[in-house]
Amino acid sequence: MTEEIVKSALSKVLYPGFTKDIVTFGFVNNIVINGDDVSFNVEITSSAPEVAKQIKDDATVELMRAGADNITCNVKAPVMPRESSSKGKNIAPQVKNFLMVSSGKGGVGKSTTSVNIAIALAAQGKKVGLLDADIYGPNIPRMMGLSDIKPEVNGNKVLPLKAYGIEVMSMGSLMEEGQSLIWRGAMIMKAIEQFLRDILWSELDVLVIDMPPGTGDAQLTLAQSVPVTMGLTVTTPQGVSLDDSRRSLDMFRKLNIPIAGIIENMSGFIAPDTGVEYDIFGKGTSQPMADEFNTKIIAEIPIESSIRVGGDEGKPITFVNPSSESAKRYMKAAESIWADIEEINANGGVDNQAVQPTTPPGVSACSTAAAPKPKQEHSHDSGGGCGCH
Ligand SMILES: Nc1ncnc2c1ncn2[C@@H]1O[C@H](COP(=O)(O)OP(=O)(O)OP(=O)(O)O)[C@@H](O)[C@H]1O
Ligand SMILES: [Mg+2]
Repeated sequence: MTEEIVKSALSKVLYPGFTKDIVTFGFVNNIVINGDDVSFNVEITSSAPEVAKQIKDDATVELMRAGADNITCNVKAPVMPRESSSKGKNIAPQVKNFLMVSSGKGGVGKSTTSVNIAIALAAQGKKVGLLDADIYGPNIPRMMGLSDIKPEVNGNKVLPLKAYGIEVMSMGSLMEEGQSLIWRGAMIMKAIEQFLRDILWSELDVLVIDMPPGTGDAQLTLAQSVPVTMGLTVTTPQGVSLDDSRRSLDMFRKLNIPIAGIIENMSGFIAPDTGVEYDIFGKGTSQPMADEFNTKIIAEIPIESSIRVGGDEGKPITFVNPSSESAKRYMKAAESIWADIEEINANGGVDNQAVQPTTPPGVSACSTAAAPKPKQEHSHDSGGGCGCH
């Protein structure tokens, strides 16, 4: 046996599904010959076990034909991507993980955070979707540069829009611009369910969900419809925002949603002309709250005019200016979130069984004394009132 004979035999082995052979693809290496004994590695890119098996079988046949005796073919395949290990109700099972972005207060930067974290996750190689679940004030289309684009409807399903490598859907893309909507609780629930069930999301590693402010029907419905892998709270450093953020963290706790951390937004101000950082709302004031909820601050994002401009013009800073300080901080936050998501899945995932409605079909949970707690807690939330009394 010589290396030439071995290579010539292996070049008759086609890569399953292709007209090219495994030698031409450059998959064969580490050929060791000892008399008529041959061993070699085949490094393939598919994790499907049937591909590895066919290559092994075909290679063995070809080498035996060429006169080899003991044949050792080591097929090295990438590990199968780990599926989400979460349990319970999931009406969007093709999505592996769900990241819920919440805040107690409006206007603190949830949508800005959702957009930039989604882009950072995509830049880190994840397949990402971004759902704007803020049905009252959908801002994601503008922030993603999709203001005038209408989605394609396929039967009663809707194809998500695409921007910056991310799948996107928002009530803003489904209704006329400037139109205001008056939602009742039951309609909010239906809308959230449809966003998950009737949008043709691909197989996503993660769906980032930008929530309306507060702790109301939208949050509860989301938690009941899909196993939310992690919740992220956005706050600004002032005391009044922190008070509201506590409610948001408490909601995650009550809904059994693991907390990914806190993003302290508008934390300091970077002057565009000098680059000097000023303390406006305070800075680092969220740490005691993070300690209280046994979580961490995963980013302090300063007030930077380029973040606001990026939002208004649909050019998110993490995409258009990845070397900026804020973009780097979003990237680090996304790394932290992903590491935690992997750990949660490695430890058995999340389960939303305990937060399912307990009322019989047709009876609203909001009309019973046993209504889940977060629903009763909202104060300034715009999801207020289930509308079914
Ligand atoms: N770090 C920042 N620096 C400068 N501007 C910012 C920053 N974060 C957010 N903004 C701007 O502040 C405004 C409010 O942000 P955003 O819409 O993300 O908040 P929100 O919490 O989603 O609000 P709502 O509760 O209304 O949904 C936007 O114009 C956004 O561009
Ligand atoms: Mg918003």
